[in-house]
Amino acid sequence: MAFEVKQLNDALGAEILGLDLSAPIDDETFAAVHRAHLDHLVLVFRNQSLTPERQIEFSKRFGPLDRHPAEDATLSDHPEILLVSTRKRNGQYIGLPDAGPMWHSDISYKKETSLGSMLYAIEVPDRGGATGFANMYAAYDSLPTHLKNAVKGRRGLFLAGRNNAKRDFKKRLTEEQKAATPPVLHPIVRTHPETGRKSIFANPQHTISIEGYDEAEAEEILSAIFEHCFQSSHTYHHEWRVGDLTFWDNRCVAHIADHSRLDDTTYIRHLHRTSIKGDVPF
Ligand code: SIN
Repeated sequence: MAFEVKQLNDALGAEILGLDLSAPIDDETFAAVHRAHLDHLVLVFRNQSLTPERQIEFSKRFGPLDRHPAEDATLSDHPEILLVSTRKRNGQYIGLPDAGPMWHSDISYKKETSLGSMLYAIEVPDRGGATGFANMYAAYDSLPTHLKNAVKGRRGLFLAGRNNAKRDFKKRLTEEQKAATPPVLHPIVRTHPETGRKSIFANPQHTISIEGYDEAEAEEILSAIFEHCFQSSHTYHHEWRVGDLTFWDNRCVAHIADHSRLDDTTYIRHLHRTSIKGDVPF
């Protein structure tokens, strides 16, 4: 199956046009999609019409799926699908309305982090609700030498929902869900297992400190790194269309959602997310 790959932005991202994922794709097409994903880091498959089963099957071509700790925010009968949704039932959110309010890499708070996530847009608002993506290879390549030296060979401490205490999340992890995901250490500069390239693996939502530094030193270094990583020359902001399936590589991409309209009752944003299991970063 031939398809077109159209670069979206100088930093990262490509549209995939002319590929219908509602039926299985052959091995040759899969290999071309895989290559495009490694090259562009974020793929946007336009005009899709996907059942939960098809999204799960397509995601599984890349590896086994992970499950989000907030199991009460998953699709009934399909626990592999996290509902990223502002829809409510009986006055309660049916999923996570504000899954990613700060820059982060999905599941970076587990020992085995995520290979990538797929987010499928079923209902999107007329404005607002974009998702930002940052190229963390480029961020590493251009990181000033003093910051490279500051984190060389060091690990960061990662925690699920670290900022739940600081931020007014609409839906928080329960104490039980948090206890099931104890803090982990990961190298702040990781090597991609498929491309061999280095990237920054730290993010404001989940990375809370750096081993070998006291709290104030770690905070200062992390703030300087984040300011560098998320400058506009490293990022692409995706304005959603219904039928977009976006697939990003959590090993070398960080992302953030714009939730500035969350308190507007007319604001409906409803997406299905699957996450593919990855490896232990090295
Ligand atoms: C996420 O962080 O996985 C969700 C991103 C979004 O809602 O745009």
